[in-house]
Amino acid sequence: VHAETLEDRCQVAAYACQRRTPLAHKNQLLTEALETVAEEALFRGSEGRGLAFSRAASVLKSFPWTVRSVKDLSSLPGIGEHSRKIIQEVLEDGASAEVENVRQSERYQTMKNFKKIFGVGVKTAGRWYQEGLRTISDLQAHHAKLNSAQQVGLLHYRDLNSPVKRSEAEAIVQVVQKAVDQFLPGASVILTGGFRRGKQTGHDVDLLITHPTEGQEMGLLSKVVSWLDSQGFMLYHSTHRNSFQPLEDEELSVSATTMDRFDRCFSIFCLSSMTEEPGCELKGSGGAHHRKAVRVDLVVTPYSQFSFALLGWTGSKNFERDLRRFSKYEKKMVLNSHTLYHTEKKIFLSAASEEEIFQHLGLDFISPEQRNA
Ligand code: CTP
Ligand code: MN
Ligand code: MN
Ligand code: MN
Repeated sequence: VHAETLEDRCQVAAYACQRRTPLAHKNQLLTEALETVAEEALFRGSEGRGLAFSRAASVLKSFPWTVRSVKDLSSLPGIGEHSRKIIQEVLEDGASAEVENVRQSERYQTMKNFKKIFGVGVKTAGRWYQEGLRTISDLQAHHAKLNSAQQVGLLHYRDLNSPVKRSEAEAIVQVVQKAVDQFLPGASVILTGGFRRGKQTGHDVDLLITHPTEGQEMGLLSKVVSWLDSQGFMLYHSTHRNSFQPLEDEELSVSATTMDRFDRCFSIFCLSSMTEEPGCELKGSGGAHHRKAVRVDLVVTPYSQFSFALLGWTGSKNFERDLRRFSKYEKKMVLNSHTLYHTEKKIFLSAASEEEIFQHLGLDFISPEQRNA
């Protein structure tokens, strides 16, 4: 055992799942610049470039000090030439000309606004831009171009782009728990995603539903969604049936995709609340009725897969991506939100907790609050 040197302590691990990344970090200006060019690359369909910038930003988020000079970067992995140049410009001039050009560009701004519509991805936003559409009003004038999800998205554009508060997320957990209790007593509703990582606001609410008796959860989602719908809680829902079945090895090794196969529902909730301040809308009524549209993802998981689902749905996206890369390249294992498979031993490794999954992978446990990569 050698004495820890300053250099050792500055060493930053290559995979995000080996690093602790808190929500609040010390290099905001740099990570915002890199994330802007990462987003721009994705808008152009350059996934590789987007990933490279996004990884560089993620590394800086885990760095315990503020980067003052490009010399500080020598101890950091995964920061390429282009990222380095942008960092240098920000450090020396307070801003990067390249990043500022992106921020000012009509294409970037338009794509960003279109992508904020529920149901709109890079491909659709890019096509609309090519067709000459520029504003939300342009889309309203070409309503026929929108599918049903996008039409609901446009209708609730403002609500869906205002941050979801933790209190709102907790109110939705209560509503869903009440629905679940009617059909399957003993089932739990667990808040995951960004809120589990300690975020105080989010773009949506991610909920996992499970029951300690394997198999009891089957068929639960459609009953819950129907009930929520009948009670007026659902403005939109799109349900996908479970298609998970154990795969052959060969198929497995290529199936470490981000999409899992649980019973799941992408929905928009209508959250009602009584405000404390009287007379907002109805004078003298002692309170006003407020409604807000909130994106909610509901996922039902069998108990034996719950730990994998919890790990997979807690994020962040960079953390998840590196967990899968680390598993594949460093451990010859395939990790997804259902299982962990050892490709050489040809066995599935079970886990009753997230901690056990980290142990199987030979990783130190990283708490959800430290997964903000
Ligand atoms: N996820 C997934 N499959 C999807 C969508 C999301 O497995 N089709 C996972 C993502 O990998 C992520 C988690 O669910 O780890 C949460 O995704 P998302 O809600 O998009 O992001 P958050 O981290 O929760 O951020 P925000 O607070 O903005 O919602
Ligand atoms: Mn989320
Ligand atoms: Mn989500
Ligand atoms: Mn319906």
